[in-house]
Amino acid sequence: MNKIIVSVVLAISLVLIINKVADKIFYTEKLENSAYTVVDSLSTSSESVTKTESENSEIESISALFASTSSADGAVIFKKCAACHSIAKGGGNKIGPALWGTLGRKAGTVPDYKYSKGMVAYAKAWSVEEMDGFLLKPKDWVKGTKMSFAGLKNSKDRAAIILYMNENSDNPLSLK
Ligand code: HEC
Repeated sequence: MNKIIVSVVLAISLVLIINKVADKIFYTEKLENSAYTVVDSLSTSSESVTKTESENSEIESISALFASTSSADGAVIFKKCAACHSIAKGGGNKIGPALWGTLGRKAGTVPDYKYSKGMVAYAKAWSVEEMDGFLLKPKDWVKGTKMSFAGLKNSKDRAAIILYMNENSDNPLSLK
């Protein structure tokens, strides 16, 4: 009699244990699946957020930097350019063309200066964005330019020099 009871209890608990284990396996699988989907959708949405941010940041950052720097800072940085460029009104061409009134005018158009073919072909107007890109890496921005200058890596330096160049003009753009 006792033996029968024991085996019935054993059988019942065996079924219960199997049930539990099966439940557990099924449950973790389900959890793992949904955890992946959450992570997936999280990462894609954050990716698209950073993308739009970096797409806008170029234009935003350079104008935002104008507020935190000055043309006086630009005048100091311009010493790096002065070996090759004059910037004062009536200043002549040196190794590079005279830079009075450069912003807003078409690239490669200073009279009596012999530009490279690359600069003549480029022929865009010097907007803030174009100047920013050119001064970051001249040789990458204007293919075939003969301006042998590595570039200004610091975006604040570029903002300062753009303010300074803009001031040295008959028709300054309104930048600040
Ligand atoms: C080693 C000499 C050298 C230095 C340093 C130099 N440049 Fe130039 N730059 C040139 C030459 C040469 C050209 C003409 C490029 C061509 O024809 O491809 C030029 C062209 C330019 C132009 C295009 C002008 C136009 O008429 O379209 C700008 C703008 C300019 N330089 C700005 C600068 C600034 C700002 C700096 C300093 C951060 C600088 N350059 C430093 C030699 C130099």
